[in-house]
Parts: sequence; C-alpha cells; structure tokens
Amino acid sequence: MLLLILAAVLAGLLGWLAVLFHQRNQYWARRGIPHTPPHPIVGSFSFLFKKNVGIWMRDLRLQHSSPLVGIWVFWKPVLVVADPQIARRVLIQDSDLFRNRYISSGKSDPIGSQNLFTVNDPTWTNVRRRLTYIFTAAKLKAMQEFTTGKSQDVVNRIKEYNSENKPVDLRVLFSDVTTDIFGTFAFGIQTDSVKTGDSVLRAVTRTFQEFDVYRGMCWLSIFFWPGLVDIFRFSLFPKKTTDFFKKTVNEIIEYRIKNKVEKSDLLDALIKMKKEGLDEGQEFDDNLLAAQATIMLQGGFDTTAGTLTFTMNELAHYPDIQERLYNELVEAKEQKNNEDLGFNDLEKLTYLNCVIKEVLRKYPPMGWLDRVAATDYPINAKLTLPRGTPVYVNAIGMHYDPQYFPDPHVFNPDRFLPENESSVVPFSYMPFGDGPRMCIGMRFAQMTMRTVISEIVLNLQLKPKPGFPTPDKVEFETKGLFLLPGAPLCLDFVPRN
Ligand code: HEM
Repeated sequence: MLLLILAAVLAGLLGWLAVLFHQRNQYWARRGIPHTPPHPIVGSFSFLFKKNVGIWMRDLRLQHSSPLVGIWVFWKPVLVVADPQIARRVLIQDSDLFRNRYISSGKSDPIGSQNLFTVNDPTWTNVRRRLTYIFTAAKLKAMQEFTTGKSQDVVNRIKEYNSENKPVDLRVLFSDVTTDIFGTFAFGIQTDSVKTGDSVLRAVTRTFQEFDVYRGMCWLSIFFWPGLVDIFRFSLFPKKTTDFFKKTVNEIIEYRIKNKVEKSDLLDALIKMKKEGLDEGQEFDDNLLAAQATIMLQGGFDTTAGTLTFTMNELAHYPDIQERLYNELVEAKEQKNNEDLGFNDLEKLTYLNCVIKEVLRKYPPMGWLDRVAATDYPINAKLTLPRGTPVYVNAIGMHYDPQYFPDPHVFNPDRFLPENESSVVPFSYMPFGDGPRMCIGMRFAQMTMRTVISEIVLNLQLKPKPGFPTPDKVEFETKGLFLLPGAPLCLDFVPRN
C-alpha cells in the first residue's frame, strides 16, 4: 500500500514537473518571439564556461533575423533586445519602469549587494545622486596630472622590460596602472603597482581577476540566478578582500573625520552620506560606504585595463591607424611646446577619441544591459512583458549588426569621425550603457584611456609579437563574465626618438 502511495506521489510530481517544463518551453512560442529551444536545466545557457557571455550575445543577434529574441536564463524567461528604438524606450523614455537590474548579490554579502551596480531602488536613487558630482570635469581635471605621471611610469616599465628582453603581459601591466589610478580615487591611498608590479591594492585586484570554477559560479549565480545566491552564500567579491575593504574604508573615514581632512573626492562623498544618512525610512548600514568604494575599484580597473589591452593589440596590427594617431598626438604636443597634454587637450583629439570608440564597439566589456520591468510592459502590439521580466539590451549585438556598423569585424575608427558619426543610429552604440543607470565612471575611464594611450603611442612604436594572436584570433575569458582577454597578449615595442 505504502509503495502504491509513494508511486502515486512520484507520478504526480513528475506530471507536475512535466507541465511546468512544457509551460516554460512554450513561453516564447506562445508570445510569437523567436527563440532556440532551451536546455532542460540551464535554459539557453548551455554555453557557460565554454564561451564568453558577451560573445554569446553577439552571436545570438547573428543567429536570429529578429531583433527581439526570447531566451531562458536557467528557468527564467528573459527578453533580449537588439533594436535601438526599443532600447531607447527601456533605457531612457520608460526608465522609471526599468530602474532595477536582475542581478543581485543577496543578503549574505553586504559589500556585493549594496554597491551602486547591484543595489536597486530606493537605495540606488539615493546613492547615485550623492556620488554623481564626484565625476564632473572639474574633479577629473584634478586627477589629470596624477594620471599622466602613472602613464609615464607605464612607458618606463615597458622600456625597462624591453632592455631586459622580458615580455610585457598587457593586461597585467594595465591592471597595475588602473589599480593605482582607481585605487587612489576610491580609497585615497597611493600605491605604486606600475613601478613595482605589486601593492596592497594590487594584491586585491589580482584576486578579483582569478576566476576559478567556484568564483565563476558565484558570478553566474549573482548575474543570472540570483535566487541561488543566499542559499549557497555566494559573494560578488572574494571574502578575504571584503574584510580588507571594510577595515580600510572605515579607518580612512574615521581618520578624515577626526582630523577634519577634506578632499572633495569619493571618500568625502561617503563621509557626507554617513553624516546625513539616507532618506527617511531607508536603513543605513556602514557597509554601504565600503561597498561604493569597492565597486569603483572593481568597476573601473578591469574594464579599463581590458580596453587598453585590446587597443594596443589593434594598433599594433593596424600600423596605418597607429601612425595616424601618432601624428595627431605629435601635432598636439608641438602646439603645446612639448608640454604634457592636459584634460582639455586630450578630450579634443578627434582621432584618439575615434580609436577608443571603435575599440569599445568591438570589445564592450559588458555587452548587455540588464533591466527588470517594474510593471506589465507593452513592448509592441503583440507582446506585453509580465511584471518582473528581465530585459537584456544587447548592445554588443547591435555593435556587430552590419545594418548599423558595416563590416563589423573590421577595426575602423573612421566610423566615428565627425563627418561619419551622424550616420551612427542613436542607441545602436552603447559601450557605457545609457539612461539613468549608465556607467557613472565613463568620463573617468575615458580620461584614463586617453592619457595612457597617448603616452604610449607618443613614446613607443607597437608591433605584433610572433606567437601572439592577431585581433581576430584573440581568446576571451570564459569563466569571468566580462569581455576581457582570456590569455596573455604581448607585443614588441620599439622606442621612438
Ligand atoms: C572602459 C571602461 C568602462 C566601461 C566600458 C564600463 C561600462 C559599464 C556599463 C556597460 C555599465 C552598465 C550601464 C547600464 O546598465 O546602462 C556600467 C555601470 C557602472 N560602472 Fe562602468 N564601465 C567602465 C569604467 C568604469 C569606471 C572607471 C568606474 C568607476 C570609477 C565604473 C563604475 C561603474 C558603476 C558604479 C556602474 C553602475 C552604475 C549604476 O548602476 O548606477 N565603470 N559600466
């Protein structure tokens, strides 16, 4: 009898699962949205750990003729949008309904879950408002001299390695310099990673870059299956680094308050937040401060270092483009009687900015923009998204769509020259995202990249190094989620007179 009951329960359970499974599989078909049938457990994500997510998104656009594609992030239906008009509505016009991201780092990880990138409303609006002013042009200009000095250290390090016949792993070198720059900005402590190859912060950012299977699982779950995060106590940052950040930020903040040090930087904005608290009714937790400093370092150092790495590799393989950039820089220097190029000079350099834009078109570190519909939302006459449905704006998919960027695999900075830029369709190009949740550090990243690239190109000629890949053969990370180099990239450098 007991066996019979057990068999009936099991049959009922299997039947229920089969119905759920069928309903899930039919989700996009019932709504008339193109899709590829999902894997029973991981949904559309059977490529995980084999292919970079950004590259998968890029290829997804090419696989379907429709700019709207339905996928399953594990069991959750997600709409992927590669249409500039709908992207504009989601990111800008109806941004009040798409304020939150699907990504979530759970309650067991206060540093990972309370930072600007992962936190949702109402805290997000409050924190973003208080941090925006530290990225104004005036504040960035104050960082220019420091950034130029660090970029000159980069050139010296390359020359030193050259003289010792040691190869320079570009991603390592650029991670050293971006750790120094964004670490100083975020924590107010100066480090010398470029000169020495190490520092207290570089030890931390090195850990950030280590993606073993466990850390890959943490990120996967945080980005794509947030329901699992608290169950397995996954964290965005390795545990040992979050303790370090909490301690460092709290000590510096205490020191500044006690000694009345004011620098009008990120830490000052955090001190102000601590003194004033959040808006009424919102809980204030001291980890909120360390969380913001940490995300500025994480959000800034690897994305910028990766972009610099790809820039150098492209320039080495396109000597004409490199020479044109060199000539623009030499001319700008001559106009300044050979003084260092400042913030305003670099901002105005047309071709330098075209090169950076084109690198970010080909290699946007985060190629998809994550939002969740706060209400039922009509996408078009046939499709209304139920409340809570995630939408991924497929920026990289549009960057590689030949109707917006002809010959998308070709590195061609001319696409962004003033005379051509008007033909770039609005919202088809978004390496920094768009709308209220776009990258807060965009101008800082641009300033850093302009400075580092100009110092290198003015002083060194870049050439491909035998044994290292051409741009079309570059490998990307498969365990980490961002579009970053997955294997060392090295070049030959010839000093210019
Ligand atoms: C090449 C460099 C960088 C690229 C390509 C990049 C790209 C992005 C993208 C695509 C987003 C999501 C935007 C959206 O959803 O619409 C983002 C968000 C963010 N980025 Fe960046 N980023 C870069 C550098 C930086 C730097 C230097 C910092 C800080 C110093 C930073 C801090 C952040 C933060 C805090 C967010 C979350 C903003 C929010 O949700 O309010 N990023 N970034």
